[in-house]
Amino acid sequence: MDRSKSIALLNHAVADELQAVHQYMYFHFHLDDQGFGPLAMLFKRTAIEEMMHVEKLAERILFLKGEVEMAVAGPVEKITDPKAMLQKAMAMEESSVIDYNKAALECAASADAVSKQVFEGLVLDEERHFDQYEKEVDKIERFGPNYLALQSFGTAAEPGAPTA
Ligand SMILES: [Fe+2]
Ligand SMILES: [Fe+2]
Repeated sequence: MDRSKSIALLNHAVADELQAVHQYMYFHFHLDDQGFGPLAMLFKRTAIEEMMHVEKLAERILFLKGEVEMAVAGPVEKITDPKAMLQKAMAMEESSVIDYNKAALECAASADAVSKQVFEGLVLDEERHFDQYEKEVDKIERFGPNYLALQSFGTAAEPGAPTA
């Protein structure tokens, strides 16, 4: 097993996850401020799931005797339009799915089955996140921008259960 290779991949993922936490919490604050309660909650719950991903990655890094770098992949994009937020979130999830699938293959190639499983678990969650955001965009496109305002009367967007 090439520990340093796995540790680098895991730390790269930590940076992506931390960026997602920051971006989704930014979306959460602004949606809450604009009165879109259910969508605000969807981003908050997803941010918490991304934080749990950081924890899983960190546990694996420490097991491999590495250091958890806690770098953040990039700055928060100051997007305040709800549909543009959802599209940004979809792009982030899609890119995570691609990166983590690659990382799982690289861990398998260096005979690190457990790190491979960690990445595979993340892929499952990120695909679900992508799907939940895509459904919201579809609804905005079908029902118009008023859909988000009507949401505030009780048809909450329900996130799925975390699996990783
Ligand atoms: Fe994640
Ligand atoms: Fe995600």
